Amino acid sequence: MTLAFRALPKRVRIVEVGPRDGLQNEKTVVPLEAKVALIEALAEAGLKDIESGSFVSPKWVPQMADTASVMARIRRRPGVAYGVLVPNMKGLEGALAAKADEIAVFGAASEAFSQKNINCSIAESLERFKPVARAALDAGIRVRGYISCVVGCPYEGEVAPAKVAEVAARLLEMGCYEVSLGDTTGVGTPGKVLAMLEATAKAVPVERLAIHVHDTWGQALANIYAALQFGVASVDSSVAGLGGCPYAKGAAGNVATEDVIYMLDGLGIACGADLEKVAAAGRAILAVLGRPPASRVAQALAARIASKQAA
Ligand code: HMG
Ligand code: MG
Repeated sequence: MTLAFRALPKRVRIVEVGPRDGLQNEKTVVPLEAKVALIEALAEAGLKDIESGSFVSPKWVPQMADTASVMARIRRRPGVAYGVLVPNMKGLEGALAAKADEIAVFGAASEAFSQKNINCSIAESLERFKPVARAALDAGIRVRGYISCVVGCPYEGEVAPAKVAEVAARLLEMGCYEVSLGDTTGVGTPGKVLAMLEATAKAVPVERLAIHVHDTWGQALANIYAALQFGVASVDSSVAGLGGCPYAKGAAGNVATEDVIYMLDGLGIACGADLEKVAAAGRAILAVLGRPPASRVAQALAARIASKQAA
């Protein structure tokens, strides 16, 4: 394995997935107002790409059933792209009606996960996405592609980097401007992530790759740092470290946006988001969910605020 390290990027695009990936797994219904307030606070904090919901079957993912209402209610900030997840033509119809700025189709590098998540094989999913991508592009909406289980699958175990590369190439061919590589269950380590990136970058230019990590095994930031060194400059994260996938049992939340911003700030890499404001948005949604933050940076900031108030 030869690992090519490049200079760290000067700027990183953060794709905030908290309102979608973060909330989709919540068992109790999160009120519409709380979702709208969260998205508006994240935009106010300077995040420019906010995945705001999913047009998927409400039977499969009930928490996202109100995405049309969320999209109708949010006050949109100029310069912010509000994206949604779309698995098929029906989902695209919802996305177009909701005036989403971007859609994301979502496939997998593992057959078993593809079946569990979207009820079809990888090949069938790619055939299904093609007309969706075509119609979205014709409507002037850009398309992102996700691949789940890029280093490991909860049902199949190890996933071959070559399979990720193959699916990524197909997503690019159908018009995706970027392919987001998902370590769905957070099992990756920097070595595995780099091997996967090295294989995938042979099929898709690294400038078109994003990294999407969950933090189940505490490797998320290390994996992102490895990806940055490889030349990836697009990172998905979720405010307060919310998240998980209903079809990946035991998967912890996504890497927290607060942790990513703190690391990028420390490295002198611009991302345009304000750490304190993102953390405040995180505290507000956690108050609704009745849960403490998973993010270490959010915990440290909250402790600092508490000690200032006590002084
Ligand atoms: P299916 O049952 O095979 O679909 O599910 P179907 O076409 O046979 O339709 C069945 C029913 O669903 C019908 O309703 C359809 O109208 C309805 P019924 O006649 O029974 O009342 N339906 C829909 N309703 C609303 N919106 C739609 C839609 N499509 C069909 N778009 C399907 C196939 C893909 C729909 C289903 O499996 C599904 O919705 N899956 C979504 C799963 C999901 O959202 N998972 C979480 C997101 S992926 C993720 O988290 C990973 C990621 O973060 C990256 C990472 O971490 O790896 C992206
Ligand atoms: Mg995810």
